[in-house]
Amino acid sequence: MLGPVLRGAARSDTIRHAVSTAPVTRTVVDRYVAGERLDEALRTVRSLAAAGMDVTFDHLGEDTGDRAEASRNRDAYLALCEALAREDLAAHAEMSVKLSAFGQALPGGHEVAYENVRPVVERAAELGTMVTLDMEDHTTVDSTLAILAELRKDFPRTGAVVQSYLFRTEDDCRALAGEGSRVRLVKGAYDEPAEVAYQNKRDVDRAYVRCLKVLMAGKGYPMVGSHDPRIVAIAQELARRAGRKQDEFEFQMLYGIREAEQRRLVAQHHRMRVYVPYGTDWYGYFMRRLAERPANLAFFLRSLASR
Ligand code: FDA
Repeated sequence: MLGPVLRGAARSDTIRHAVSTAPVTRTVVDRYVAGERLDEALRTVRSLAAAGMDVTFDHLGEDTGDRAEASRNRDAYLALCEALAREDLAAHAEMSVKLSAFGQALPGGHEVAYENVRPVVERAAELGTMVTLDMEDHTTVDSTLAILAELRKDFPRTGAVVQSYLFRTEDDCRALAGEGSRVRLVKGAYDEPAEVAYQNKRDVDRAYVRCLKVLMAGKGYPMVGSHDPRIVAIAQELARRAGRKQDEFEFQMLYGIREAEQRRLVAQHHRMRVYVPYGTDWYGYFMRRLAERPANLAFFLRSLASR
């Protein structure tokens, strides 16, 4: 029951203010967020790279309220591109973007988001790296996949995320499983209605396996975005059955979650990419991480009570 409440709270400005200003929040946030500044995130990435891991950067931000803010978010990604070039990290680091941070929810937002994301994808390609479009709530999926299709005409390595909790996703996987396509499959982190999404964890997990079968059997590059040990084992088996070599798919996990498992997969010579969020706008991301695991909330509340 707590999950939907927390995911709802992720979009409440009043709760945002209360949580963001609570003195102990910072220490709990640090578990999931690599820092508020780019240099802190770069330090994290250097140590992950030294441990044999690749990364995807997320400059935190979502639900942008006006065009100026959308432009600032685009510029933050362009600055990130320059930092990757300067620090010689482009071979290890790609970028994940949320189109709502680029203006997707504004009037005319589809075009605004496309115009803002395109220069980032273009600069990433010049540097030899790429961008993956995160997936947000179900109302954004058509627009996000249409922007993906447009970007892929010139930048075929642009990737997208699909969420197994949505009924539509198995079909989307079929459509996206073609040559050169990069698809990150996740379970889904938003509070979705029963008309469009499975509500029960077991159904979401089963759908994940069905979608993964489609992607592994296809011609694209599957990115297995999950910390679930059962899913990891199934992915290894499906890849083996599909005759995929270890560089023909990858695992992805979030910064701060199941780090021992991340190292274990690297030791088995799998490609492991860690999703590294940084920036000051961490509230929505943080609340979704709390919602995923009740123990996280208990820890957070205990920290508050012990002050
Ligand atoms: P599940 O929730 O079953 O968790 C399996 C195990 O992982 C748990 O038992 C626990 O040990 C550990 N775990 C999971 N979440 C944890 C947490 N918050 N804190 C501590 N331990 C935790 N979603 C989305 O809607 N759009 C997107 O674009 C993305 N992008 C994305 C990128 C990457 C790289 C990952 C790994 C995930 C996402 N997600 C996402 C989030 C995803 O939808 C999902 O909510 C989380 O990955 C949790 O689901 P799991 O598959 O890990 O399984």
